[in-house]
Amino acid sequence: MDKIKIRGGKQLNGEIFISGAKNAALPLICASLLTDETVTLTNMPILSDIKSMNLLLEQLGTKIDAFDDFVDGHPTKTYSYRTQELTSIAAPYDYVRKMRASYYVLGPLLARAGKVELSLPGGCAIGTRPMDIHLAAMEEMGAKIDIRNGYVYGEVEGRLKGAHIVFRNVSVGATCNVLMAAVLADGITVLENAAKEPEIGDLINLLNDMGAKISGIGTSILTIEGVEKLHGARHKVIPDRIEAGSYAVAAAITGGKIELINAQPNTLKTPMQILQKMGVDVSPTERGILVDASNKKIIGEDIITEPFPGFPTDLQAQFMSLLTVAEGAGMVTETIFENRFMHVPELMRMGANINVHGHASAIVRGVKKLSGAPVMATDLRASFALVLAGLAAEGETIVNRVYHLDRGYEKLEDKLRGVGADIERIKEAEEE
Ligand code: UD1
Repeated sequence: MDKIKIRGGKQLNGEIFISGAKNAALPLICASLLTDETVTLTNMPILSDIKSMNLLLEQLGTKIDAFDDFVDGHPTKTYSYRTQELTSIAAPYDYVRKMRASYYVLGPLLARAGKVELSLPGGCAIGTRPMDIHLAAMEEMGAKIDIRNGYVYGEVEGRLKGAHIVFRNVSVGATCNVLMAAVLADGITVLENAAKEPEIGDLINLLNDMGAKISGIGTSILTIEGVEKLHGARHKVIPDRIEAGSYAVAAAITGGKIELINAQPNTLKTPMQILQKMGVDVSPTERGILVDASNKKIIGEDIITEPFPGFPTDLQAQFMSLLTVAEGAGMVTETIFENRFMHVPELMRMGANINVHGHASAIVRGVKKLSGAPVMATDLRASFALVLAGLAAEGETIVNRVYHLDRGYEKLEDKLRGVGADIERIKEAEEE
């Protein structure tokens, strides 16, 4: 397994191009299953999660063409997806276990084929993560759902039916699945307590371009008027707000100044407000967002994760790294996932002062300096938090289990090296 080696203490300055959003791209890929025409997605990030989703779709009968492309002079990928005919309706365990987001085939397969076999994803490092909200919604739309041998078997006679669905709590994944199921349903679906994440807006825009009739974008009540058929479309994936937020912290934690090219300020209001409260200058520019922490003292601040537009749980670990070197203390409260402090013991091995209270909150008291250490994390964002700590630490940090980072951060070492970090990837073969 590859490792990342960082020699900390370098101030990071320059610009970083923000790639297309992984969490937008994954449901967009699955939306292509809803038509027999071609759906083309541009500004796609080059990530292992995208490769995994592509493999799953190929297994369902999708023909995929990949093209090298450019967005604002930066190399990206464009993919065309065409599913003339579904050759399978199954998402087997081997796919789902590698990537939970495989559950995005649930809605499209039920809508198009009236049938689905989906391995249940089970828990993961950050919590139990059940699928009950997705499945209850499919049942309300007329599907028969049966769970056996670790699989969900779903079936519907004829078309799914429009329904009035109220989520018991906000779920990004279930909102996407309901949207993708309801667009081809018979009648009108009203979804209350829907998630409002920008990635959902991106999905709605693609679906509407394919001929769907969805209103309420950006609000918690979505109305979907079912249509009989959808057609092909071409769509540019939105920039990744979590990648942008992560590199914003890289600027802050090294006392540097980085312009995040293509970052969208309206998708990052809460985390940028927190950064400002912590003493960092953050301002929108013509090309994105400028984060300037040069000659600034980082001050402790409380953070609470919430559904959008609140502070994203996917930036909690990275901001905690920043708090470890702040002046004063900050309390971090995690309200979305029940086990998302796996990075804490690793940060403490680097000299951080953190006190976890139960599962939901942690007090972080800033220390003068972290010191480099070999570390590893059990999930994507926690792994990036350790990279950030390594950038600020004295000495050398080795981050193990790099495959987590490759799931969600495109060209991480190149991007960080481009702003002055001393960072390299050690390939497995190069290790002694
Ligand atoms: C998505 C994101 C993930 C992000 C999360 C919250 C993708 C691929 N992943 O995950 O990066 O951290 O949103 O912003 O986009 N829940 C249930 N039952 C369900 C569904 C969810 O109890 O049927 C719970 C979850 O366990 C969690 C909470 O609801 O506690 C929110 O989860 P959800 O918004 O569904 O997260 P994902 O869509 O899995």
